[in-house]
Amino acid sequence: MAHLNGRTLAAAGVLVLSVSAFAMGSRPKDADEATNKRIAPVSRVQMAAESATAAVGSRSGEQIYKAVCGACHDSGVANAPKLGDKAAWAPRIALGLDGLMKSAIAGKGGMPPRGASDANDAELARAIAYVANKSGGNLKEPAAK
Ligand code: HEC
Repeated sequence: MAHLNGRTLAAAGVLVLSVSAFAMGSRPKDADEATNKRIAPVSRVQMAAESATAAVGSRSGEQIYKAVCGACHDSGVANAPKLGDKAAWAPRIALGLDGLMKSAIAGKGGMPPRGASDANDAELARAIAYVANKSGGNLKEPAAK
């Protein structure tokens, strides 16, 4: 501290002043929350628009998974094998992509046909490869068209 000179002290003073001005100028939490509520419908519409922009058939496995499959496979709803749960996925991955396609298209147990998605076969295969490969698998994800 011995080398603190007048300029350093002045600079520190300006810093303190501007920090407190910022604190006083910041809006109360309630106002922020009110703003969040006001813009929420807009951001929801934007998100819907973003997921609708990709045409059916051209969506990636990750897009399909996040839009639809994750609703069950993220948390294990209805005993769905969870993303990343290698033990739960190993016997299923052993069926291969063709085998998994058959059960995913037809539906199986608590899983509705195509996971209740509008994915076409290519997208469904990509989504299956996405979730399986995040869960210890090494399925070849069909290329995006
Ligand atoms: C409504 C919940 C739900 C959704 C949505 C869902 N799944 Fe499933 N999924 C399940 C359940 C439950 C099982 C376990 C079925 C069983 O073995 O009885 C399952 C099993 C699977 C299996 C393994 C099938 C097999 O033969 O063992 C695959 C692959 C799969 N899901 C992929 C998907 C994909 C891809 C999507 C999105 C397009 C999806 N799931 C969406 C509930 C869901």
